[in-house]
Amino acid sequence: MLRRIASLAVNCKTENVAKFELKMSRRLNARRIEGVDKNIWVEFTQLAADYKAVNLGQGFPDFSPPNYLQEAFCKALTGGCSMHQYTRAFGHPPLVKILAKFFGMIVGRQVDAMEDILVTVGAYQALFCTFQALVDEGDEVIIIEPFFDCYQPMVMMAGGKAVYVPLRPRAEGKLLSSEDWVLSTEELASKFSQHTKAIVINTPNNPLGKVYKREELQVIADLCIKHDVVCISDEVYEWLTYDGAEHVKIASLPGMWERTVTIGSAGKSFSATGWKVGWAIGSDHILKHLKTVHQNSVYHCATAAQEAVAQGFQREYEQFGTPESYFQQLPDRLHHKRRKLATCLESVGLQPILPEGGYFMIADISSIKVDLNDPNTQNEPHDYRFVKWLIKEKGLATIPVSAFFSPEHREDFQNYIRFCFVKEDSTLNAAEDILRKWSDGK
Ligand SMILES: Cc1ncc(COP(=O)(O)O)c(C=O)c1O
Repeated sequence: MLRRIASLAVNCKTENVAKFELKMSRRLNARRIEGVDKNIWVEFTQLAADYKAVNLGQGFPDFSPPNYLQEAFCKALTGGCSMHQYTRAFGHPPLVKILAKFFGMIVGRQVDAMEDILVTVGAYQALFCTFQALVDEGDEVIIIEPFFDCYQPMVMMAGGKAVYVPLRPRAEGKLLSSEDWVLSTEELASKFSQHTKAIVINTPNNPLGKVYKREELQVIADLCIKHDVVCISDEVYEWLTYDGAEHVKIASLPGMWERTVTIGSAGKSFSATGWKVGWAIGSDHILKHLKTVHQNSVYHCATAAQEAVAQGFQREYEQFGTPESYFQQLPDRLHHKRRKLATCLESVGLQPILPEGGYFMIADISSIKVDLNDPNTQNEPHDYRFVKWLIKEKGLATIPVSAFFSPEHREDFQNYIRFCFVKEDSTLNAAEDILRKWSDGK
């Protein structure tokens, strides 16, 4: 009896504490974080781990960076006291110097190492600094769908309003390539208004793999110039293009350097996503605002990782355009993995859309009929339910593609899931095994 009373008292207290905490929590949060609490990576990465699924979900390689880069990191760690202490806030000098030299060569202009570059904690922080620095309350930011999901909450947190324009399949019928997804010039032009502050593009695109052609970029550039709008160009997969697709930097088009922030990632470039070294490159008159956000938030990024990335770029600069270059070797290696995954998906009745770039492939699941009667997920979009089912029942993790669309267009894109192919062949084989057994009804 005494135990029951004690247990009731504990439950009662727990309930009261929970109510109190909920009330407090509602009162405490700043308005700018309302509505941005859900995060697909947090949710699906955890689910994949819980079910020990073969993971073709999150975009990271399950192999190591090139040896010379690992050695550079080890050397940095044993390179004396300075490697363990703060370095320059806006970027370790050896890194900004080589980034300026390297990207100056690519965009065909002088890039000032100290003025035009900001090193950040991954491309993620470069994006965050950009939105915080440039977007004001009431500003509109055009986002092309499908888009890397963090753009929308970052625009919201800056007080801006996201305005969406979707890439649409070019024609009815079978879609074979990311190239078949295009922007309507008229539709895009109609999104520009007196409130438009910026447009975000991502080439090669995540999740579709679209690599924007020069002519497509020119249309965007012309509109940016006409409406005096900044272009935020996320190019973290810039080295990964296939079958002759050419990555063009919008900053290299006439009149665009002055109004473009180009964002890059050492994690994606060198298969070292855990190092979280990224950067923003652009004209000093824009970059200085990003630096203001950076110096008042993160201030400085890990010195040894920056030193190693500097060494990596130094080597790439020397080997650029040769078969020794990692920026050539990685896409060569992925080209084969991309084919392998596409063949496997086709053979089990999933219709893949072949990416021109990046390391993701989306596939149409509309022809797959499975029983998705999990009551816990019944209010979720079809692709979310399908992906959860695939993880729980088949042990294979992927990502629902509607997460890369705005709430207003999400419903139209519930029939695709995203596979990541920057994985060891053994991982891709394990995924293939699962899909084959499933399609054979085993
Ligand atoms: C398009 C895109 N931009 C930015 C990022 C973030 O890159 P980082 O890991 O360097 O922060 C990612 C990561 O997946 C991405 O896909």
